Amino acid sequence: MAKRISRPSRQPPLDVRPDTGPRPSAAAAPASTPLGALTASAWRALLAIAHSPQPHRDPTVTDLLQPDPTVGWRSADRLPPPLRDFLDLYLPFCRLAAHAPLLVGHLGQSLDGCIATRAGESCFVTGPANITHLHRMRALADAVLVGAGTVAHDDPRLTTRLVPGPCPVRVVLDPRGRLGRHHRLFTDGAAPTLLVRASTDADGHAAGPGPAGVNGPTDQVEILPAALTADGAIDLPWLLACLQRRGLRRLFIEGGGVTVSAFLAQGLLTRLQIAVAPLIIGQGRPGVSLPPPPDLARALRPACRVYRMGDDMLYDLELTAGAAHGGTDPGLLPVRIR
Ligand SMILES: NC(=O)c1ccc[n+]([C@@H]2O[C@H](COP(=O)([O-])OP(=O)(O)OC[C@H]3O[C@@H](n4cnc5c(N)ncnc54)[C@H](OP(=O)(O)O)[C@@H]3O)[C@@H](O)[C@H]2O)c1
Repeated sequence: MAKRISRPSRQPPLDVRPDTGPRPSAAAAPASTPLGALTASAWRALLAIAHSPQPHRDPTVTDLLQPDPTVGWRSADRLPPPLRDFLDLYLPFCRLAAHAPLLVGHLGQSLDGCIATRAGESCFVTGPANITHLHRMRALADAVLVGAGTVAHDDPRLTTRLVPGPCPVRVVLDPRGRLGRHHRLFTDGAAPTLLVRASTDADGHAAGPGPAGVNGPTDQVEILPAALTADGAIDLPWLLACLQRRGLRRLFIEGGGVTVSAFLAQGLLTRLQIAVAPLIIGQGRPGVSLPPPPDLARALRPACRVYRMGDDMLYDLELTAGAAHGGTDPGLLPVRIR
């Protein structure tokens, strides 16, 4: 009998690779302490904030972060700026409100807005720094979610191979059951996979396993029969409620464009990260695609932080209510890019 997939128990909090040395203390660190060692400590602190039930008891956390009544934790003022930037990029994804899920979408695109060629080739639009960032976001997440198009084209693993940290539950939206059972998400044993499929077919009959489909639950794969909206899409608020009941609240929506756009269009994303690579594809698969706004004033203009990742620029957009810039003076200031 297959297991019901839910958030794995994380006690002790850090399911990370073996610790290979003493943990440097930022407070006690001499000026010569290499930034890499501090960054490794900062990463451990972020994992603890995301996954530990009692992060305030973790000395790495208290060493590098300070409690903040508004946002929970923030980077300590005395840290060097690159380390603060590192912590500040990931801390918003570590904070959960009491009842609301936290959803961050990500797309890596060319300068002209394509996430893949027309044929679906996307490995790799962005460079190694952004790929490592993806692995970090996965490690902080309870679940990573992709659409069927991404699995069909990329056969991704969605694991955390490049950074220490737990692999999230993998969630695939495949309403029509078009994916074959050979995909690595269904066979690699690296993490559980939740396959979201329509509970009925187009004629209203209970959906059976398609000939090429995953034929039933296994220890690794659970099929979640989905509620559909009137236009035949998976009911995303329903899906979020299902995931929340399983303890999957911190969600990383990793693509592709159709899937990220569906969450964005329904106002379900907390943040959207778009990494822009110095690449021109010409014509390809689009990233964000939304219904046209009636005028420019009603286009989305979220508050934004910009990070350099190798040759790429990451635009980290805050989509929560009240986070839009109103075109006042702060918006006229140049954004500091490091
Ligand atoms: N550069 C990047 O950041 C990045 C990231 C990921 C993927 N990619 C590339 O992007 C391409 C795939 O992206 P894509 O936009 O074409 O497809 P996608 O978003 O990966 O998958 C779209 C499909 O997922 C299902 N789906 C998603 N949301 C749904 C909803 N609310 N209700 C019902 N079904 C839903 C539908 O499956 P059905 O069609 O079966 O109905 C839909 O057609 C590939 O070429 C991949 O290599 C690039």
